[in-house]
Amino acid sequence: MTRTVVITGASAGIGRALALEFARRGWRLGLASRRLATLESLRDEIVANTGGTTPPPALLELDVADTAHCAERLRGFLESLGGVDVFIANAGINEFTRIGKGGFDGSQRILQTNLIGTIATLEVAATHFIAQGRGHLVGISSLASLLTIPSQGAYCASKAGLSSWLGAARIELERHGIAVTDVLPGFVVTDIMPHIERYPFAVPVERAAREIVDAIERRKRRAIVPGFPWRLLRPFAGLVPDAVWRRMLR
Ligand SMILES: NC(=O)c1ccc[n+]([C@@H]2O[C@H](COP(=O)([O-])OP(=O)(O)OC[C@H]3O[C@@H](n4cnc5c(N)ncnc54)[C@H](OP(=O)(O)O)[C@@H]3O)[C@@H](O)[C@H]2O)c1
Repeated sequence: MTRTVVITGASAGIGRALALEFARRGWRLGLASRRLATLESLRDEIVANTGGTTPPPALLELDVADTAHCAERLRGFLESLGGVDVFIANAGINEFTRIGKGGFDGSQRILQTNLIGTIATLEVAATHFIAQGRGHLVGISSLASLLTIPSQGAYCASKAGLSSWLGAARIELERHGIAVTDVLPGFVVTDIMPHIERYPFAVPVERAAREIVDAIERRKRRAIVPGFPWRLLRPFAGLVPDAVWRRMLR
């Protein structure tokens, strides 16, 4: 039977690459983001790639930061699909936020989108899955959830918060037959930050998407992407000396 995945932030970067990879593997798609026209182009590309072997992706214009409207819109969308197997909370933003230098607006935007808005969407999906009696929640967190990167305080806090929430969700939802996967990408070449390709061990977005979809299909609890070398380096994540971070301060 065709499986269905819903992805937020599907118009660009990792979300877009996940959509293309799931489509290649024969999944039916529900795609959400703020830019509907971009999603429409992606839908046409997927229909052309798959030759119509699966139904065309369903689309939803959605701003996860607008929690008042987002929950209701997403609830209706999930119901309209008539059976969803996996929900991926991927939408996210980043920007540099220097502490004490007027960066609070940026911090608030990041936390509202990556933490509050993301949890709002995961809550809707969890409720839908409990009623359905099965499902799989996936959150795209970050290796930054394990780190304390200067100029990235709000981003690290948003991802640490999301990973904590996903850990609690995994334990609470297990009894309802719902799996939870916490995805921690390292650096993936997208437009989220300028010159991300220069960061350590940056990987193309297609490779990241393949590894993420593999982890989801295996219903892993946690996926560090790319696995090499970050899985080996993970035990040292909290041990990076301040002097190293100081050199990266922008
Ligand atoms: N790239 C990396 O190195 C990296 C590393 C670790 C974690 N991540 C995480 O991976 C996720 C995707 O990032 P990316 O690198 O693919 O970034 P990206 O290329 O900038 O894409 C971000 C996506 O999120 C959507 N989005 C942003 N704000 C939104 C909102 N308020 N409501 C709905 N959709 C929204 C954007 O679509 P619209 O503009 O159309 O809304 C876009 O589709 C993020 O959660 C990010 O934190 C990325």
